[in-house]
Amino acid sequence: MGNLARTPPTDKVVLRPMILSSLFLLVVETADLPPSSAQEYPPDLERGKALYTRYCRSCHGDHGEGDGPASETLPVPPPNFRHLRSILQSDEDLLKTIEHGNVFSPMHGWRGRLADGEMQDVLAYIRLLAHSGP
Ligand code: HEC
Repeated sequence: MGNLARTPPTDKVVLRPMILSSLFLLVVETADLPPSSAQEYPPDLERGKALYTRYCRSCHGDHGEGDGPASETLPVPPPNFRHLRSILQSDEDLLKTIEHGNVFSPMHGWRGRLADGEMQDVLAYIRLLAHSGP
């Protein structure tokens, strides 16, 4: 009771609605965000495209369909980014694959070669490919 006794009752009356309304604002602001928001800034699609063309296209193909020139020689086929199996994965899941790669897979991790922002840009470009026309 020692702590409570030091706080004048009027403060509590004022503070409680303030805390409640800021909690409410927090909930409203969070609800406004897109469902998966690994993105901390607007993605740079031009940079994403340049990185994709340079580092990913050979396996993943021009349109992200897993049919790049190197894909035929791979023991594991690259996925088609336009299929639901890829589309339904969260940004976090795909970023994890880009960052760390898959064990025993030609898809190695890009951590150390690409900066965080570059991985996010390239992911944004993959998402764009997945949703563009044929
Ligand atoms: C040497 C060929 C190769 C290169 C280069 C390559 N990938 Fe991959 N990638 C693969 C393969 C193969 C898989 C499937 C891995 C598996 O199933 O184990 C894959 C999987 C992925 C996935 C997971 C997709 C899903 O639906 O699960 C993402 C995302 C991805 N690659 C992004 C990239 C990005 C971004 C780059 C360039 C920075 C890149 N890859 C470069 C071969 C490659």
